Parts: sequence; C-alpha cells; structure tokens
Amino acid sequence: MPPLRIGMLGLGTVGAGTWRVLTRNQRDIVARSGRPMEIVAVAVRDLERARRIVGGAVALTTDPFDLVNRADIDVVVEVMGGTTLARELVLQAIANGKHVVTANKALLAEHGAEIFAAAEARGVIVAYEAAVAVSIPIIKALREGLVANRIAWVAGIVNGTSNFILTEMGSKGIGYANALKDAQDQGFAEADPRFDVEGTDAAHKLCLLAANAFGTQVPFAEVHTEGITELEAVDLACAEALGYRIKLLGVARRHDHSVEVRVHPALLRSDHLLAGVDGSMNAVMVHGDASGTTLYYGAGAGSEQTASAVIADLVDVARSAACDPSERVPHRAFQSHAMADLPL
Ligand code: NDP
Ligand code: HSE
Repeated sequence: MPPLRIGMLGLGTVGAGTWRVLTRNQRDIVARSGRPMEIVAVAVRDLERARRIVGGAVALTTDPFDLVNRADIDVVVEVMGGTTLARELVLQAIANGKHVVTANKALLAEHGAEIFAAAEARGVIVAYEAAVAVSIPIIKALREGLVANRIAWVAGIVNGTSNFILTEMGSKGIGYANALKDAQDQGFAEADPRFDVEGTDAAHKLCLLAANAFGTQVPFAEVHTEGITELEAVDLACAEALGYRIKLLGVARRHDHSVEVRVHPALLRSDHLLAGVDGSMNAVMVHGDASGTTLYYGAGAGSEQTASAVIADLVDVARSAACDPSERVPHRAFQSHAMADLPL
C-alpha cells in the first residue's frame, strides 16, 4: 500500500505532539490503518524556532499555500489555529482534492457549514475529533456508538485551561494569573487565552457537539457564553463550604423546534459526577433516549493528548481514502436539518 502523504500546517504544541506520536508508534499505527504514514512537509511561521520533535527530518516551509497546493500530499493536517488564514488554506486544500484533519474548533464553529459543503462537493473528508475534548473520542461516540439515539442533551466540562485554573485556585489556593501562566506553559491555553477564560473556546466546542448530537447547525454567535473571569477564590471557597464545586459547564439541550446551547460557571453538588473532574481534564455526559446517560472522561488539552485524536482521524482517512469516493457516506452534522425541522 502506498503511504498516506501528510502535509502539516503548524508544528507547535499539537503539531509537534502529532509528529512525536506518529514517529514513536508508527509500527502499530501502520498495522491498524493498513497503510504507512509519511509527513512530507510542514508549514511554520519561524524556521529558526527550536522544535520539540525527534526522529527524522522534514521539509519545513513558511509558505502554507505552497504546502496545500503540493501534488504529493494526500491529507492536510491543520494545527496552526486561527480562522482567517486557516479557512483559506483548508478551502484551498479541499479544492485541490485533499482530505483535511483539523483540531481547530474555532474554524469549524464559525465556518463549518461552508467547509463541510465544500468537502462534500469535492468528495473529500474533513475530520475533527481533536477539536473537542481532545483525548475523548466524543465525536465518534455521537456519530457511531450513539447513532441509534435521539439525543436529548449533551453537557460537560470541555475547556481544560479554565478547569485547570479553577482547580488551582480552589484546592491549591494559587492566584488566577499564576494558574493561567502555568496552563500556558503546559501548552493547554489557546494562542489568545481570552478564548479559554471567557468561555469562547467551550462555546465553539458546544457548537460542534450540538451539530453532531442534533444534526443541526448552531450559529456560534447565538450561544450564551460566560467565562470564569469574574470568579474569585472566595467564590470557590464559599461553594466548597456549602458542599458544591464551581465548574465552567457547557450544555446543549434539544427542545421541540430549537436547541438551547450555553456555557457558564455552574454550582455542582460535590457528589455530582462532573464535580470531581479536576485539572486540565474534561468530561462529557450525553443522554440518548435508548442509551440513557453515558459519561466520557479524559484529557482536555495537551500536546500528545491532542495528537492521539489527530492520528485517530488520520487512520480514519487512511481507511476511508481506500474506498471509492462514491461509496462514502458523508457525515452531515452541519447540513441535515434546519432548526425548524428538527425531528421531534
Ligand atoms: P501553537 O501556537 O503551539 O502552534 C501553532 C503552529 O502553527 C506553530 O508551529 C506556528 O509556527 C504555526 N503557524 C501559525 N501561524 C502560521 C502561519 N501564518 N504560517 C505558517 N505556520 C503558522 O498552537 P497549538 O498547537 O496549541 O494549537 C493549534 C491548534 O490546535 C489550534 O486551533 C488550537 O485551538 C487547537 N488545539 C490545541 C490544543 C492544545 O492543547 N494546545 C488542544 C486541541 C486543539 P511557529 O512554530 O513557527 O510559530
Ligand atoms: N485551549 C483548549 C483547552 C485546548 O484548554 O481546552 C483544547 O481544546
């Protein structure tokens, strides 16, 4: 089988993690996907920056358009972030007939409908397991494991940075600024950490969860979004004294002809399943009419934790790419129902 030829946009926290895990576990990954994987080229901003990668050399370029236009690349892994240049590059890659794997929830929450429509028209795959609750395969759970269900609600802790800050401020008594700095040093935070602490990143992820759970597009601008910036250590201490924990919660709930999507700090009883989710961990609960409530727990941010999901998508692409495109059944989370036509 010829190798799946990969072009990466970005070699930062997630890109370098993807490189390391692909290199370290290459033999097992090839055995499972049935196809070798080769990183052919990587686009970065700064050629001089020290890189946390080992095992081999790769062509680095500062021209990301050159990368997405190369004929010797089958799949573009977008791990650079942002919504403007990333959108242009992803659409160009799709127009060139390349599959796309992305960890960029902001891009998909804001431009998902356009990107998925372009991918379907061109017969290529856009995969994004890493975009939500990194090491938890929650997109697959919604699409595959729970596919028989009418989902009533999805709720969870889906931003690792804010959960890390709340945990540090609460149990360790560390100040907000130091806790945020620690999250940034560990590679958990977004390039602009306001996305984490103001709830925006969680709202992006809730749009993707709601699209997959309910089969409808949720306009990001309509998500009620509050972050953790107004919380103080005294709030966390008072909650604990009363038998509660404060968590940044995301909730997506189906109503008859609408969905409710919100992100905000919430008081959870200390014995609630989500109350014990600490540090940069995430957890998502899903209620389906047949399955009942299911719970998924795992790392919510981090280099190799995210790489795990990026590579899972690459394996999916390697397997699906081997099929005739006309036989692929596209995932239509974003296009299937107008809000008013939500199946009751
Ligand atoms: P980083 O800032 O660590 O890495 C970004 C990478 O993109 C860098 O290698 C940078 O180059 C490159 N890059 C940025 N702009 C350009 C450009 N104009 N041209 C070429 N290369 C460019 O980000 P992360 O790895 O943390 O995040 C990447 C994406 O993954 C984001 O969408 C983020 O939301 C998402 N994500 C991150 C997670 C995490 O835990 N960090 C988890 C899940 C998703 P250079 O190295 O030269 O600066
Ligand atoms: N900044 C994000 C978080 C990365 O902290 O959850 C994972 O999406």
